[in-house]
Amino acid sequence: MPAVVVVGAQWGDEGKGKATDQLSSQVDYVVKFNGGNNAGHTVVVGEEKYALHLLPSGILSPGCTPVIGNGVVVDLEVLFAELEGLSARGVDVSRLLVSSSAHLIPSYNRTLDKVTERFLGKRQIGTTGRGIGPTYADKMARVGIRVQDIFDEKILRQKVEGALVQKNQLLLKVYNRRAVDVDEVTDELLAYAERLRPMVADTSLVLNQALDEGRTVVFEAGQAAMLDVDHGTYPFVTSSSATAGGACTGSGVGPTRIDRVVGVVKAYTTRVGEGPFPTELNDDAGERLRRVGGEYGTTTGRPRRCGWYDAVVARFASRVNGLTDLVLTKLDVLTGLEKIPVCVAYEVDGRRMDDMPPNQTDFHHARPVYEELDGWSEDISGAREFSDLPDAAQRYVLALEEMSGARISSIGVGPDRAATIVRHSLLD
Ligand code: GDP
Ligand code: IMO
Ligand code: MG
Repeated sequence: MPAVVVVGAQWGDEGKGKATDQLSSQVDYVVKFNGGNNAGHTVVVGEEKYALHLLPSGILSPGCTPVIGNGVVVDLEVLFAELEGLSARGVDVSRLLVSSSAHLIPSYNRTLDKVTERFLGKRQIGTTGRGIGPTYADKMARVGIRVQDIFDEKILRQKVEGALVQKNQLLLKVYNRRAVDVDEVTDELLAYAERLRPMVADTSLVLNQALDEGRTVVFEAGQAAMLDVDHGTYPFVTSSSATAGGACTGSGVGPTRIDRVVGVVKAYTTRVGEGPFPTELNDDAGERLRRVGGEYGTTTGRPRRCGWYDAVVARFASRVNGLTDLVLTKLDVLTGLEKIPVCVAYEVDGRRMDDMPPNQTDFHHARPVYEELDGWSEDISGAREFSDLPDAAQRYVLALEEMSGARISSIGVGPDRAATIVRHSLLD
Protein backbone atom coordinates (compact mmCIF):
# COMPACT_ATOMS: atom_id res chain seq x y z
CA MET A 1 0.00 0.00 0.00
CA PRO A 2 1.77 3.10 -1.14
CA ALA A 3 2.62 6.56 0.07
CA VAL A 4 2.51 8.79 -2.99
CA VAL A 5 3.79 12.35 -3.24
CA VAL A 6 2.18 14.62 -5.87
CA VAL A 7 4.16 17.75 -6.79
CA GLY A 8 4.02 20.50 -9.39
CA ALA A 9 6.84 20.15 -11.90
CA GLN A 10 6.69 23.64 -13.46
CA TRP A 11 5.64 27.02 -11.96
CA GLY A 12 2.37 25.89 -10.38
CA ASP A 13 -1.22 25.49 -11.63
CA GLU A 14 -0.34 22.30 -13.51
CA GLY A 15 -3.56 20.61 -12.37
CA LYS A 16 -2.33 19.09 -9.10
CA GLY A 17 -5.81 19.52 -7.63
CA LYS A 18 -7.43 17.42 -10.32
CA ALA A 19 -4.68 14.77 -10.10
CA THR A 20 -5.00 14.47 -6.32
CA ASP A 21 -8.78 14.52 -6.41
CA GLN A 22 -8.72 11.61 -8.83
CA LEU A 23 -6.60 9.55 -6.47
CA SER A 24 -8.62 10.59 -3.41
CA SER A 25 -11.48 8.17 -3.98
CA GLN A 26 -8.97 5.31 -3.70
CA VAL A 27 -6.85 6.59 -0.79
CA ASP A 28 -7.28 6.96 2.96
CA TYR A 29 -5.48 10.26 3.60
CA VAL A 30 -4.54 13.33 1.54
CA VAL A 31 -1.98 15.57 3.24
CA LYS A 32 -1.14 19.12 2.31
CA PHE A 33 2.45 19.62 3.41
CA ASN A 34 3.56 23.11 2.33
CA GLY A 35 2.27 26.55 1.42
CA GLY A 36 -1.07 27.97 2.46
CA ASN A 37 -3.87 29.86 0.77
CA ASN A 38 -1.50 31.12 -1.91
CA ALA A 39 -2.44 27.86 -3.65
CA GLY A 40 -5.52 27.61 -5.84
CA HIS A 41 -6.71 24.24 -7.06
CA THR A 42 -9.76 23.97 -9.29
CA VAL A 43 -11.48 20.61 -9.19
CA VAL A 44 -14.36 19.83 -11.51
CA VAL A 45 -16.76 17.04 -10.58
CA GLY A 46 -19.53 16.73 -13.17
CA GLU A 47 -21.49 19.99 -13.06
CA GLU A 48 -19.81 21.14 -9.84
CA LYS A 49 -16.65 23.25 -9.79
CA TYR A 50 -14.68 23.73 -6.56
CA ALA A 51 -11.86 26.20 -5.93
CA LEU A 52 -9.71 24.99 -3.04
CA HIS A 53 -7.01 27.13 -1.46
CA LEU A 54 -6.02 25.94 1.97
CA LEU A 55 -7.83 22.62 2.12
CA PRO A 56 -6.31 19.45 0.62
CA SER A 57 -8.17 18.18 -2.45
CA GLY A 58 -9.05 15.00 -0.52
CA ILE A 59 -11.78 16.99 1.24
CA LEU A 60 -14.06 16.29 -1.74
CA SER A 61 -13.89 12.49 -1.38
CA PRO A 62 -16.13 10.98 1.30
CA GLY A 63 -13.83 8.09 2.27
CA CYS A 64 -10.68 10.15 2.55
CA THR A 65 -9.29 12.02 5.56
CA PRO A 66 -7.81 15.40 4.59
CA VAL A 67 -4.83 16.54 6.66
CA ILE A 68 -3.16 19.94 6.99
CA GLY A 69 0.42 19.04 7.86
CA ASN A 70 2.94 20.86 10.05
CA GLY A 71 4.65 22.40 7.00
CA VAL A 72 1.57 24.42 6.06
CA VAL A 73 0.88 28.02 7.08
CA VAL A 74 -2.75 28.48 8.10
CA ASP A 75 -4.90 31.59 7.85
CA LEU A 76 -7.73 30.71 10.26
CA GLU A 77 -10.19 33.14 8.72
CA VAL A 78 -9.66 31.50 5.32
CA LEU A 79 -9.78 28.01 6.79
CA PHE A 80 -13.22 28.50 8.33
CA ALA A 81 -14.57 30.42 5.34
CA GLU A 82 -13.50 27.56 3.07
CA LEU A 83 -14.97 24.93 5.37
CA GLU A 84 -18.26 26.81 5.58
CA GLY A 85 -18.38 27.30 1.83
CA LEU A 86 -17.96 23.58 1.20
CA SER A 87 -20.41 22.59 3.96
CA ALA A 88 -23.02 24.83 2.40
CA ARG A 89 -22.58 22.87 -0.83
CA GLY A 90 -23.13 19.58 0.96
CA VAL A 91 -19.50 18.46 1.32
CA ASP A 92 -18.79 16.65 4.60
CA VAL A 93 -15.81 18.50 6.08
CA SER A 94 -15.88 16.84 9.51
CA ARG A 95 -12.88 14.57 8.89
CA LEU A 96 -10.31 17.36 8.53
CA LEU A 97 -7.22 17.08 10.75
CA VAL A 98 -4.85 20.00 11.39
CA SER A 99 -1.32 19.60 12.74
CA SER A 100 -0.76 21.21 16.12
CA SER A 101 2.65 22.34 14.84
CA ALA A 102 1.45 24.14 11.70
CA HIS A 103 2.10 27.87 11.80
CA LEU A 104 -0.65 30.48 11.74
CA ILE A 105 -0.76 33.53 9.49
CA PRO A 106 -1.55 36.46 11.80
CA SER A 107 -3.16 39.49 10.13
CA TYR A 108 0.03 41.55 10.52
CA ASN A 109 1.82 39.21 8.12
CA ARG A 110 -0.76 39.85 5.42
CA THR A 111 -0.10 43.56 5.89
CA LEU A 112 3.67 43.05 5.80
CA ASP A 113 3.46 40.91 2.66
CA LYS A 114 1.69 43.73 0.82
CA VAL A 115 3.82 46.62 2.06
CA THR A 116 7.11 44.79 1.43
CA GLU A 117 6.04 44.13 -2.13
CA ARG A 118 5.22 47.79 -2.60
CA PHE A 119 8.61 48.78 -1.23
CA LEU A 120 10.42 46.37 -3.54
CA GLY A 121 9.13 48.41 -6.48
CA LYS A 122 10.60 47.03 -9.70
CA ARG A 123 12.13 44.10 -7.80
CA GLN A 124 8.76 42.87 -6.52
CA ILE A 125 8.01 39.14 -6.55
CA GLY A 126 4.33 39.43 -7.46
CA THR A 127 3.24 37.48 -4.37
CA THR A 128 -0.35 36.52 -3.74
CA GLY A 129 -0.40 38.96 -0.80
CA ARG A 130 -1.63 36.28 1.61
CA GLY A 131 1.14 36.71 4.19
CA ILE A 132 2.94 33.52 3.17
CA GLY A 133 6.51 34.89 2.97
CA PRO A 134 6.46 36.81 6.29
CA THR A 135 4.94 33.80 8.09
CA TYR A 136 7.64 31.39 6.88
CA ALA A 137 10.24 34.05 7.72
CA ASP A 138 8.83 34.16 11.28
CA LYS A 139 8.96 30.37 11.48
CA MET A 140 12.66 30.34 10.58
CA ALA A 141 13.37 33.31 12.84
CA ARG A 142 11.62 31.41 15.65
CA VAL A 143 9.02 34.08 16.30
CA GLY A 144 6.11 32.28 14.62
CA ILE A 145 2.72 31.48 16.15
CA ARG A 146 1.64 27.85 15.94
CA VAL A 147 -1.76 26.16 16.02
CA GLN A 148 -1.10 24.77 19.53
CA ASP A 149 -0.38 28.27 20.87
CA ILE A 150 -3.97 29.41 20.58
CA PHE A 151 -5.05 26.93 23.25
CA ASP A 152 -3.03 28.74 25.92
CA GLU A 153 -3.98 32.39 26.09
CA LYS A 154 -0.97 33.39 28.20
CA ILE A 155 1.54 31.79 25.87
CA LEU A 156 -0.26 33.16 22.81
CA ARG A 157 -0.18 36.72 24.16
CA GLN A 158 3.54 36.38 24.97
CA LYS A 159 4.35 35.09 21.51
CA VAL A 160 2.33 37.76 19.72
CA GLU A 161 4.02 40.38 21.88
CA GLY A 162 7.45 38.91 21.08
CA ALA A 163 6.76 38.96 17.36
CA LEU A 164 5.42 42.50 17.41
CA VAL A 165 8.44 43.99 19.20
CA GLN A 166 10.31 44.06 15.91
CA LYS A 167 7.40 44.18 13.50
CA ASN A 168 5.86 47.28 15.00
CA GLN A 169 9.18 49.10 14.66
CA LEU A 170 9.29 48.00 11.06
CA LEU A 171 5.71 49.01 10.34
CA LEU A 172 6.07 52.38 12.03
CA LYS A 173 9.56 53.48 11.12
CA VAL A 174 10.25 51.83 7.79
CA TYR A 175 6.84 51.42 6.22
CA ASN A 176 5.11 54.38 7.76
CA ARG A 177 2.09 52.32 8.87
CA ARG A 178 0.26 52.18 12.17
CA ALA A 179 1.53 49.83 14.88
CA VAL A 180 -0.42 46.65 15.57
CA ASP A 181 -2.06 46.11 18.94
CA VAL A 182 -1.03 42.91 20.81
CA ASP A 183 -4.46 42.36 22.35
CA GLU A 184 -6.25 42.86 19.06
CA VAL A 185 -4.20 40.17 17.32
CA THR A 186 -4.38 37.82 20.30
CA ASP A 187 -8.17 38.11 20.49
CA GLU A 188 -8.50 37.68 16.74
CA LEU A 189 -6.68 34.34 16.96
CA LEU A 190 -8.30 33.21 20.22
CA ALA A 191 -11.73 33.61 18.67
CA TYR A 192 -11.09 30.50 16.56
CA ALA A 193 -9.73 28.27 19.35
CA GLU A 194 -12.85 26.30 20.25
CA ARG A 195 -13.85 25.70 16.63
CA LEU A 196 -10.34 24.56 15.79
CA ARG A 197 -9.77 22.32 18.80
CA PRO A 198 -11.58 19.18 17.57
CA MET A 199 -9.56 19.17 14.33
CA VAL A 200 -6.14 19.45 15.93
CA ALA A 201 -4.00 16.32 16.11
CA ASP A 202 -0.45 15.00 16.13
CA THR A 203 -0.75 14.42 12.42
CA SER A 204 2.74 12.88 12.11
CA LEU A 205 1.64 10.15 14.53
CA VAL A 206 -1.70 9.66 12.76
CA LEU A 207 -0.05 9.33 9.34
CA ASN A 208 2.73 7.00 10.47
CA GLN A 209 0.23 4.75 12.24
CA ALA A 210 -1.93 4.76 9.11
CA LEU A 211 1.05 3.66 7.01
CA ASP A 212 1.88 0.95 9.59
CA GLU A 213 -1.67 -0.36 9.13
CA GLY A 214 -1.21 -0.53 5.35
CA ARG A 215 -3.33 2.48 4.51
CA THR A 216 -2.69 4.70 1.49
CA VAL A 217 -1.53 8.29 1.87
CA VAL A 218 -1.19 10.96 -0.81
CA PHE A 219 0.97 14.00 -0.06
CA GLU A 220 -0.23 16.98 -2.09
CA ALA A 221 2.13 19.87 -2.79
CA GLY A 222 1.11 23.46 -3.25
CA GLN A 223 3.12 25.45 -5.83
CA ALA A 224 5.89 23.65 -7.72
CA ALA A 225 9.58 22.86 -8.23
CA MET A 226 10.34 26.16 -9.97
CA LEU A 227 8.71 28.06 -7.08
CA ASP A 228 10.51 26.01 -4.38
CA VAL A 229 12.54 28.20 -2.03
CA ASP A 230 15.68 26.09 -2.55
CA HIS A 231 15.37 24.80 -6.09
CA GLY A 232 13.23 27.38 -7.84
CA THR A 233 14.03 30.62 -9.63
CA TYR A 234 15.08 32.37 -6.41
CA PRO A 235 14.20 35.07 -5.38
CA PHE A 236 11.11 34.75 -7.60
CA VAL A 237 9.77 31.82 -5.60
CA THR A 238 7.40 31.09 -2.79
CA SER A 239 8.81 30.65 0.74
CA SER A 240 8.28 26.92 1.28
CA SER A 241 9.63 23.54 0.14
CA ALA A 242 7.33 22.57 -2.70
CA THR A 243 9.48 19.65 -3.84
CA ALA A 244 9.21 16.03 -2.69
CA GLY A 245 11.58 16.48 0.28
CA GLY A 246 9.08 18.97 1.67
CA ALA A 247 6.51 16.17 1.89
CA CYS A 248 8.63 14.56 4.60
CA THR A 249 9.57 17.65 6.61
CA GLY A 250 6.10 19.08 6.14
CA SER A 251 4.26 16.01 7.43
CA GLY A 252 6.57 14.18 9.81
CA VAL A 253 6.77 11.07 7.62
CA GLY A 254 10.28 9.83 6.80
CA PRO A 255 11.66 9.45 3.25
CA THR A 256 12.00 5.66 3.62
CA ARG A 257 8.21 5.43 3.67
CA ILE A 258 7.59 7.17 0.34
CA ASP A 259 6.91 4.80 -2.57
CA ARG A 260 6.16 7.08 -5.51
CA VAL A 261 6.76 10.68 -6.46
CA VAL A 262 4.43 12.00 -9.16
CA GLY A 263 5.15 15.25 -10.99
CA VAL A 264 2.28 17.12 -12.64
CA VAL A 265 3.11 18.98 -15.88
CA LYS A 266 0.98 20.91 -18.30
CA ALA A 267 1.39 20.14 -22.00
CA TYR A 268 2.65 23.76 -22.19
CA THR A 269 3.88 26.13 -19.46
CA THR A 270 2.38 28.93 -17.35
CA ARG A 271 3.65 31.20 -14.62
CA VAL A 272 1.97 33.78 -12.35
CA GLY A 273 3.95 36.64 -10.85
CA GLU A 274 7.38 37.94 -11.72
CA GLY A 275 10.59 36.11 -12.62
CA PRO A 276 12.35 34.47 -15.56
CA PHE A 277 10.41 32.21 -17.95
CA PRO A 278 12.42 31.21 -21.06
CA THR A 279 9.56 29.88 -23.21
CA GLU A 280 7.16 32.73 -22.45
CA LEU A 281 5.13 33.92 -25.46
CA ASN A 282 4.24 37.60 -25.60
CA ASP A 283 2.28 37.20 -28.82
CA ASP A 284 -0.91 35.75 -30.28
CA ALA A 285 0.26 32.19 -29.59
CA GLY A 286 0.54 33.02 -25.87
CA GLU A 287 -2.83 34.74 -25.92
CA ARG A 288 -4.36 31.66 -27.55
CA LEU A 289 -3.00 29.36 -24.83
CA ARG A 290 -4.40 31.72 -22.17
CA ARG A 291 -7.81 31.88 -23.82
CA VAL A 292 -8.24 28.20 -24.70
CA GLY A 293 -6.61 26.99 -21.47
CA GLY A 294 -8.55 29.46 -19.28
CA GLU A 295 -5.24 30.57 -17.80
CA TYR A 296 -6.33 32.99 -15.10
CA GLY A 297 -5.23 32.55 -11.47
CA THR A 298 -7.58 30.57 -9.20
CA THR A 299 -6.42 32.65 -6.23
CA THR A 300 -5.83 36.16 -7.55
CA GLY A 301 -7.57 36.08 -10.93
CA ARG A 302 -4.39 37.40 -12.57
CA PRO A 303 -3.82 36.39 -16.21
CA ARG A 304 -1.17 33.66 -16.23
CA ARG A 305 1.90 34.12 -18.40
CA CYS A 306 1.88 31.37 -21.06
CA GLY A 307 4.54 29.61 -23.14
CA TRP A 308 5.52 26.34 -24.78
CA TYR A 309 6.50 23.15 -22.95
CA ASP A 310 9.98 23.33 -21.49
CA ALA A 311 11.68 19.93 -21.26
CA VAL A 312 14.70 21.42 -19.46
CA VAL A 313 12.36 22.44 -16.62
CA ALA A 314 10.70 19.00 -16.66
CA ARG A 315 14.07 17.19 -16.48
CA PHE A 316 15.15 19.49 -13.65
CA ALA A 317 11.92 18.80 -11.75
CA SER A 318 12.38 15.06 -12.33
CA ARG A 319 15.86 15.29 -10.84
CA VAL A 320 15.22 17.41 -7.75
CA ASN A 321 12.06 15.47 -6.87
CA GLY A 322 13.22 11.99 -7.90
CA LEU A 323 10.05 11.64 -9.98
CA THR A 324 8.81 8.14 -10.74
CA ASP A 325 5.85 9.27 -12.86
CA LEU A 326 4.48 12.28 -14.68
CA VAL A 327 0.86 13.32 -15.01
CA LEU A 328 0.51 15.33 -18.23
CA THR A 329 -2.44 17.73 -18.16
CA LYS A 330 -4.33 19.95 -20.61
CA LEU A 331 -3.28 18.14 -23.77
CA ASP A 332 -6.71 19.13 -25.17
CA VAL A 333 -5.71 22.82 -25.05
CA LEU A 334 -3.17 22.20 -27.85
CA THR A 335 -5.77 20.77 -30.25
CA GLY A 336 -5.95 22.77 -33.46
CA LEU A 337 -2.31 23.87 -33.60
CA GLU A 338 -0.54 22.89 -36.79
CA LYS A 339 2.92 22.76 -35.23
CA ILE A 340 3.83 22.68 -31.53
CA PRO A 341 7.27 23.95 -30.51
CA VAL A 342 8.87 22.22 -27.50
CA CYS A 343 11.94 23.59 -25.76
CA VAL A 344 14.59 20.85 -25.67
CA ALA A 345 17.59 22.88 -24.45
CA TYR A 346 18.71 26.47 -23.84
CA GLU A 347 21.18 28.67 -25.57
CA VAL A 348 23.02 30.80 -23.05
CA ASP A 349 25.40 33.44 -24.42
CA GLY A 350 26.11 31.31 -27.48
CA ARG A 351 26.46 28.00 -25.58
CA ARG A 352 23.93 25.14 -25.66
CA MET A 353 22.83 23.90 -22.24
CA ASP A 354 20.79 20.73 -21.85
CA ASP A 355 20.39 21.15 -18.10
CA MET A 356 19.09 23.96 -15.93
CA PRO A 357 21.79 26.64 -15.64
CA PRO A 358 22.95 26.62 -12.00
CA ASN A 359 23.49 30.37 -12.11
CA GLN A 360 20.62 32.88 -11.93
CA THR A 361 22.10 35.25 -14.51
CA ASP A 362 22.50 32.44 -17.05
CA PHE A 363 18.88 31.43 -16.55
CA HIS A 364 17.77 35.01 -17.14
CA HIS A 365 19.75 34.94 -20.42
CA ALA A 366 18.54 31.48 -21.50
CA ARG A 367 16.96 31.37 -24.96
CA PRO A 368 14.90 28.28 -25.78
CA VAL A 369 16.12 25.84 -28.42
CA TYR A 370 12.91 24.56 -30.01
CA GLU A 371 11.99 21.34 -31.74
CA GLU A 372 8.74 21.56 -33.69
CA LEU A 373 6.32 18.67 -33.30
CA ASP A 374 3.26 18.01 -35.45
CA GLY A 375 -0.10 19.09 -34.10
CA TRP A 376 -3.56 17.51 -34.53
CA SER A 377 -7.00 18.90 -35.24
CA GLU A 378 -9.31 16.14 -33.93
CA ASP A 379 -11.25 16.78 -30.69
CA ILE A 380 -9.52 14.62 -28.07
CA SER A 381 -11.68 15.48 -25.07
CA GLY A 382 -13.51 12.16 -25.29
CA ALA A 383 -10.36 10.02 -25.46
CA ARG A 384 -10.08 7.54 -22.57
CA GLU A 385 -7.41 5.19 -23.93
CA PHE A 386 -4.02 6.17 -25.30
CA SER A 387 -4.96 4.56 -28.61
CA ASP A 388 -8.02 6.88 -28.87
CA LEU A 389 -5.61 9.81 -29.42
CA PRO A 390 -4.73 10.83 -32.99
CA ASP A 391 -1.25 9.68 -34.09
CA ALA A 392 0.26 13.16 -33.81
CA ALA A 393 -1.04 13.57 -30.24
CA GLN A 394 0.40 10.17 -29.32
CA ARG A 395 3.74 11.19 -30.82
CA TYR A 396 3.64 14.49 -28.88
CA VAL A 397 3.12 12.61 -25.59
CA LEU A 398 5.82 10.05 -26.36
CA ALA A 399 8.29 12.78 -27.37
CA LEU A 400 7.64 14.63 -24.09
CA GLU A 401 8.07 11.40 -22.16
CA GLU A 402 11.40 10.74 -23.87
CA MET A 403 12.79 14.17 -22.97
CA SER A 404 11.25 14.79 -19.52
CA GLY A 405 12.93 12.25 -17.26
CA ALA A 406 9.98 10.08 -16.14
CA ARG A 407 7.22 8.00 -17.69
CA ILE A 408 3.92 9.73 -18.43
CA SER A 409 1.39 7.68 -16.51
CA SER A 410 -1.70 9.76 -17.01
CA ILE A 411 -2.92 12.30 -19.58
CA GLY A 412 -5.54 14.98 -19.00
CA VAL A 413 -7.88 15.79 -21.90
CA GLY A 414 -10.37 18.03 -20.06
CA PRO A 415 -11.03 19.60 -16.63
CA ASP A 416 -13.52 16.97 -15.44
CA ARG A 417 -12.45 14.10 -13.15
CA ALA A 418 -13.36 11.63 -15.89
CA ALA A 419 -11.46 13.36 -18.71
CA THR A 420 -8.27 11.36 -18.22
CA ILE A 421 -6.30 8.64 -19.95
CA VAL A 422 -4.58 6.33 -17.46
CA ARG A 423 -1.52 4.51 -18.83
CA HIS A 424 -0.10 3.26 -15.50
CA SER A 425 -1.81 3.24 -12.10
CA LEU A 426 -0.17 5.61 -9.61
CA LEU A 427 -1.17 3.47 -6.63
CA ASP A 428 0.27 0.01 -7.44
P1 GDP B 1 -3.23 23.36 -9.47
O1 GDP B 1 -2.96 24.61 -8.70
O2 GDP B 1 -1.99 22.65 -9.87
O3 GDP B 1 -4.20 22.44 -8.77
O4 GDP B 1 -3.94 23.81 -10.83
P2 GDP B 1 -5.10 24.91 -11.02
O5 GDP B 1 -6.38 24.31 -10.53
O6 GDP B 1 -4.67 26.22 -10.46
O7 GDP B 1 -5.10 25.09 -12.59
C1 GDP B 1 -5.37 24.03 -13.44
C2 GDP B 1 -6.64 24.35 -14.25
O8 GDP B 1 -6.72 23.46 -15.35
C3 GDP B 1 -7.93 24.14 -13.48
O9 GDP B 1 -8.86 25.11 -13.92
C4 GDP B 1 -8.38 22.74 -13.89
O10 GDP B 1 -9.79 22.57 -13.83
C5 GDP B 1 -7.92 22.68 -15.31
N1 GDP B 1 -7.50 21.36 -15.79
C6 GDP B 1 -6.83 20.39 -15.13
N2 GDP B 1 -6.54 19.37 -15.96
C7 GDP B 1 -7.05 19.70 -17.18
C8 GDP B 1 -7.05 19.07 -18.47
O11 GDP B 1 -6.50 17.99 -18.67
N3 GDP B 1 -7.64 19.78 -19.49
C9 GDP B 1 -8.23 20.99 -19.31
N4 GDP B 1 -8.75 21.60 -20.35
N5 GDP B 1 -8.24 21.60 -18.12
C10 GDP B 1 -7.66 20.98 -17.07
P1 IMO C 1 -0.71 26.40 -6.87
O1 IMO C 1 -0.66 25.49 -5.67
C1 IMO C 1 1.12 29.61 -9.18
C2 IMO C 1 3.58 32.48 -6.95
C3 IMO C 1 3.08 33.89 -6.83
C4 IMO C 1 4.41 34.63 -6.76
C5 IMO C 1 5.28 33.69 -5.94
C6 IMO C 1 5.36 34.05 -4.46
O2 IMO C 1 -2.09 26.81 -7.24
O3 IMO C 1 0.08 25.84 -8.00
P2 IMO C 1 3.65 33.86 -2.44
O4 IMO C 1 2.31 34.49 -2.23
O5 IMO C 1 3.64 32.37 -2.38
O6 IMO C 1 4.71 34.43 -1.54
O7 IMO C 1 4.07 34.30 -3.94
O8 IMO C 1 4.71 32.39 -6.08
N1 IMO C 1 2.64 31.43 -6.49
C7 IMO C 1 1.96 30.62 -7.31
N2 IMO C 1 1.90 30.57 -8.65
N3 IMO C 1 0.45 28.71 -8.45
C8 IMO C 1 0.51 28.72 -7.10
O9 IMO C 1 -0.04 27.76 -6.33
C9 IMO C 1 1.26 29.73 -6.46
N4 IMO C 1 1.52 30.06 -5.18
C10 IMO C 1 2.36 31.08 -5.21
O10 IMO C 1 2.33 34.26 -7.96
O11 IMO C 1 4.98 34.74 -8.03
MG1 MG D 1 -3.32 26.65 -8.83
